[in-house]
Amino acid sequence: MTSYVSYRPDLEQPFPNEEELIRQVVEAMGKANQQVADKHRHGLRDAHAKSHGVLAGELRVQPNLPAHLAQGLFAEPATYPVIVRFSSAPGDLRSDQVPVQRGIAIKVIGAPGPRAIDDGFTTQDFLLVNHPTLPFGNIAEYAKLQDLLEKQPRQSDQQLQLTGAAARVAAKALTRSGRPLPPTVETLAAANDHILGETFHSMAALRYGDHVAKISAAPRSANVRALTGSRVHKKAGESALRDLVVDFFAHDSAEYDIRAQLCTDVERMPVEDASVLWPEELSPHETVAVLHLPAQDAYSDARRRYADDVLSFSPWHALEAHRPLGSIMRSRRAAYPASSDFRHRVNGIEPEEPSDIKELPA
Ligand code: HEM
Repeated sequence: MTSYVSYRPDLEQPFPNEEELIRQVVEAMGKANQQVADKHRHGLRDAHAKSHGVLAGELRVQPNLPAHLAQGLFAEPATYPVIVRFSSAPGDLRSDQVPVQRGIAIKVIGAPGPRAIDDGFTTQDFLLVNHPTLPFGNIAEYAKLQDLLEKQPRQSDQQLQLTGAAARVAAKALTRSGRPLPPTVETLAAANDHILGETFHSMAALRYGDHVAKISAAPRSANVRALTGSRVHKKAGESALRDLVVDFFAHDSAEYDIRAQLCTDVERMPVEDASVLWPEELSPHETVAVLHLPAQDAYSDARRRYADDVLSFSPWHALEAHRPLGSIMRSRRAAYPASSDFRHRVNGIEPEEPSDIKELPA
């Protein structure tokens, strides 16, 4: 019989100098954000700046979930409206020919229950990236990465493309010789695949009601499963990913499994180190809901403006039942509002947090 780790606050163990590390990270991000805003004369997100699709959909919590999965938002079968934003990881508008990590941000509207922080909202955001772990898995390691990130706005798309290609060669050689990939290689070596075929992960842990879990979204319907591993065409242009998403949803709907992988072993599935892959043989990814995205215009100008300039997604738009856990998550509590405040201020736009799906323009 599997025993699921019970959530308790002391699963989190902050670094003694954590506040200072977070301050450094947020400051470095702010500088990069300013450089990018100067370049474009428009404030962008400090990460995941480029969107590829903005969709309305539904999160359908599955009926008859066993007790360990029927927790928090997933406690009862229910259908919630969602806004979904697909993105690429850099805090700049890069050509989609540069292979970088992709993200999906899912904003569930009308999530009932006490909040992780007292924000007065009813949204539950899940921010997921197409890699299961964060190579720099705690805030002390992540702080070292900031130098690299700060330099990125000054690199051309071609330089980034070359760095990515070199990293993929190194990754192949290391994998062949059975050696682990250094974190920088792992981060840079992403393949340039169709965004809709990807599986996306929370990378870091969050509270899952009485337990602790990582969340992921995996292609469920045959049409998006068929896209897994399909390369973006080299001649498809700078906005290839947006074009692929728009073409797809012009005619088709898609479904993704929303899955929880519950922590069953605090040593081998740590909360404070997001670089550790939680072994599936200890705990599988179990479907708790289906994300349904109907056919629609996935990138009207009105939607792009609303999602890129008005909305903010944050792991801290959360129910207490899904409190983000670990130093990486704690750092995001300061980083996301800083980035969001900056771009709203620079662009002279009031932030809004939706309480009704009707607020998403057509
Ligand atoms: C667990 C690892 C992480 C994941 C899965 C993740 C994922 C994402 C995703 C999907 C977005 C795009 C949200 C959107 O579409 O609006 C995003 C944005 C962002 N991320 Fe992360 N992220 C991670 C870690 C971090 C860390 C450690 C920091 C900094 C300390 C950070 C800073 C940001 C910022 C500043 C934004 C833009 C926020 C805004 O302006 O609205 N992220 N992240």
